[in-house]
Amino acid sequence: MKPIGVFDSGVGGLTVVKELIKVLPYEDLIYFGDTARVPYGIKSQETVIKFSIENILFLLNQDVKLICVACNTVSSLALPIIRHHFKVPIVGVLSPAVREAVYATKNKKVGVIGTRGTINSGAYEREIKQLDPRIKVFAVACPLFVPFAEEGFLSGPAVSYVAEKYLAPLKKQNVDTLILGCTHYPLLKPLIQEVMGKNVTLIDSAKQVALEVREILSREKQLKVAGKGRQQFFVSDNPEWFSNLAKQFLGRPIHNAKKVNHV
Ligand code: DGL
Repeated sequence: MKPIGVFDSGVGGLTVVKELIKVLPYEDLIYFGDTARVPYGIKSQETVIKFSIENILFLLNQDVKLICVACNTVSSLALPIIRHHFKVPIVGVLSPAVREAVYATKNKKVGVIGTRGTINSGAYEREIKQLDPRIKVFAVACPLFVPFAEEGFLSGPAVSYVAEKYLAPLKKQNVDTLILGCTHYPLLKPLIQEVMGKNVTLIDSAKQVALEVREILSREKQLKVAGKGRQQFFVSDNPEWFSNLAKQFLGRPIHNAKKVNHV
């Protein structure tokens, strides 16, 4: 059976890999992190599209059966435009999160947080409104959460101050559901929950994405149901940096990350 391909702008996509391993333990995974060009969250749509096509071509060269796009910025800015140009199924992180949020909200006020690219694209809002036009969407970019997560600042006065500032408009609007629209934010979940209050439902799409991948593979009779799943990790720069951060995002260390010149 062919492997599943996963890509992200860097290390954050490992939060999705963690769920894929839980839900699909027999599958082989090939991960690509574009560590030479991260972050994508501040780049133009044109650039994110170009990088995404290059990353997809790299994974297709590894003969993958499905591509899972772990990056929210790519899923928002590039996927709607490029996905139909490829034969292989490509799964992004937006739709699974949107479906869950639409299901979860009671007061029809949903918050979305993500990178500037994700928020400025308006992609989450569009998808939510397609499912339920009555829902009001409040979106806020939280760019500093990415370096905080990478530096391991998951609690304490500095990150709490920033979280209070970023999340204040969402609290004011009384959202009852909040989509964590960025690979890095699940690490800050306890802090975000504390700031938003315990009655707000936080939606972290990683698990839903893994379930969607399983559903597609099962439908296409491509599911691997025995053997031990193997993971291979490729990056475009600095495998040491990637490996050091991996434990935080994946929950276990990585020893086999390899640098490739993929373009
Ligand atoms: N992976 C990106 C995302 O989920 C966050 C990091 C970046 O800006 O590249 O949007």
